[in-house]
Amino acid sequence: MADRPIIFVLNGPNLNMLGTREPEIYGHDTLDDIAGRLEDRALELGVQIDMRQSNHEGHLVDWIQEAGATGARAILLNAGAFTHTSIAIHDAIKGVNVPVIEVHLSNPHRREAFRHISYVGQAAKGTIAGFGAASYMLALDAAAGF
Ligand code: DQA
Repeated sequence: MADRPIIFVLNGPNLNMLGTREPEIYGHDTLDDIAGRLEDRALELGVQIDMRQSNHEGHLVDWIQEAGATGARAILLNAGAFTHTSIAIHDAIKGVNVPVIEVHLSNPHRREAFRHISYVGQAAKGTIAGFGAASYMLALDAAAGF
């Protein structure tokens, strides 16, 4: 159904390792598990998701620009560690006319000090963090209302 609004779900470095990566912090769901649940919820909400993951900063910049150029309804962005380092991703978010929801499985504010700065959050419309895989679902529910 090509006429359902598209919501990009972009995932940054190491999120391909979900399921085995520090499960005490990130849980046991894989990124594919999360994608499956998002697909189901997207159907209920009347939207479609385009879910991607890359370990490379420039891919995330390219995809944010692509979301802008193709008229995506919203972007859910878990930029992983680039959240805390990437002015390029911050600038990309500011450069497109697409609302971005910053998503995190963990709550970075409860963790190391270097995670307390978010270049993504300073450009995003809002942030959902700390609810594990449910952070993505909550963000999708919010984005579907845009
Ligand atoms: C994360 C939090 C980041 O600080 C970390 O670098 C990640 C995952 C999260 O979803 O909780 O890779 O974005």
